[in-house]
Amino acid sequence: MLLDDCVEKRHSTRSFLKKPIPRSVLERALTLAKNAPSSSNIQPWRLIIVEGAARDRLAASLCTAATQGGPFVPPIPAAFQHYRSNYGKGLYGDVLGISRNDHVRLQAAQLRNYNFFDAPTEIIVAMHKDLAIADALSVGMYLQTLLLGLAQEGIASCCQVAVAGYPEILRRELDVPDHLEIICGVAVGYEDADSEINSYRAQKEEFTAVTRFISI
Ligand SMILES: Cc1cc2nc3c(=O)[nH]c(=O)nc-3n(C[C@H](O)[C@H](O)[C@H](O)COP(=O)(O)O)c2cc1C
Repeated sequence: MLLDDCVEKRHSTRSFLKKPIPRSVLERALTLAKNAPSSSNIQPWRLIIVEGAARDRLAASLCTAATQGGPFVPPIPAAFQHYRSNYGKGLYGDVLGISRNDHVRLQAAQLRNYNFFDAPTEIIVAMHKDLAIADALSVGMYLQTLLLGLAQEGIASCCQVAVAGYPEILRRELDVPDHLEIICGVAVGYEDADSEINSYRAQKEEFTAVTRFISI
């Protein structure tokens, strides 16, 4: 697949088939992703790949926690809030037909994060806690390379900051050492092409809205 095709094909998938991913396919994408750049080549990304019984145990613990109290979601500056509300309206309102005031259905849709949208594999992405913002950027570059490598293999994905909202559960279940800061999860698997939620495509700004050229 050409790079353009991989970039355009990748989108956040929120309903997966339960079909497991062959280890060889995951390993090919991981091998490709190691080529990502990083500040001083420190390669700060750390991954824990959770499958099988471990994945089911983690999902069960997260689902229990999430039904008892929401995760901590950091507030975003006012200038960005309209993006979050457009996204929520598009995904939950327009595609799933859930009204803003239907808190029961909204919560049920959001809780699907904690069963990883049925994905057979959840990747936990972490970085040493003493590293800086440029190193988090390196982790992001790695992650996009990985997601494109997976897309090339026909594997869908969805990054999940929601999962990082319960760090104590991830630490306990997966034995994550204290020096690692958990950044996000990523649900990975084969897309359920018949699921309505996967028809959602997020709106993106043209580069002209976020870029300035200075030439003289
Ligand atoms: C770091 C990060 C965290 C995200 N966390 C979540 C999440 O918790 N749940 C979710 O449904 N989508 C999550 N997403 C997906 C975004 O909503 C999605 O990337 C955005 O709406 C753009 O859509 P696209 O990925 O289809 O291009 C996350 C994406 C990123 C990059």
